[in-house]
Amino acid sequence: MGADEVRIERLAAADVEPLYVLAREIWHAHYPAIVSAAQIEYMLEQRYNPGVVQSELRRDDLWWDKLMVGEVMAGFASYFLTGAPGEMKLDKLYVHPRHQRQGYGGRMIDRACEIARARGCNRLTLAVNKNNRSAVNAYLKHGFRIADAVVKDIGQGFVMDDFIMEKAVMGDGSPEG
Ligand SMILES: CC(C)(COP(=O)(O)OP(=O)(O)OC[C@H]1O[C@@H](n2cnc3c(N)ncnc32)[C@H](O)[C@@H]1OP(=O)(O)O)[C@@H](O)C(=O)NCCC(=O)NCCS
Repeated sequence: MGADEVRIERLAAADVEPLYVLAREIWHAHYPAIVSAAQIEYMLEQRYNPGVVQSELRRDDLWWDKLMVGEVMAGFASYFLTGAPGEMKLDKLYVHPRHQRQGYGGRMIDRACEIARARGCNRLTLAVNKNNRSAVNAYLKHGFRIADAVVKDIGQGFVMDDFIMEKAVMGDGSPEG
């Protein structure tokens, strides 16, 4: 395979430790301007602790993908069926800063949409920090709209101050639909 060949693959159990390292690197590069260092550490442990991810890999209503650029894991996504009829939630979407703005985020969104369609969903939803402007712009570029705004208590005095965004994934006749 070429050094720059780009693929999206299912995350495997053996990827969980490298995923934790990659998540830490992306979060510490991206979030200091948006949330406190303490909240970054709290959320990293809550969401990327290898034990948490291993147990998510055993679920059949949740998917973890990795973005491979050659032999390097350059990003990842996870999404799950929320239980609300027709709804898949894109829970995580991250591309290493070195690899951003090359369409990879869009490719991972497309993959989540494919799985959502295959599971009979009609929409993909997500929550994104209101001050995470580059991510909000990425989602708008890839067909999401802002549907709501929420402030969610995540424990230990931390809150998530988010937009809820939503994208139709089937039946609307658009090129991406
Ligand atoms: C949001 C993210 C996943 C998008 O992935 P990506 O591979 O860069 O996305 P794409 O190449 O498909 O789309 C690029 C668009 O995203 C936005 N964008 C992405 N990175 C950006 C950056 N560093 N600065 C400004 N805009 C950016 C722009 O709208 C860009 O379009 P443009 O290049 O035409 O201006 C990625 O930028 C990322 O990991 N960001 C940091 C972590 C994060 O906030 N994740 C989302 C959590 S909800």
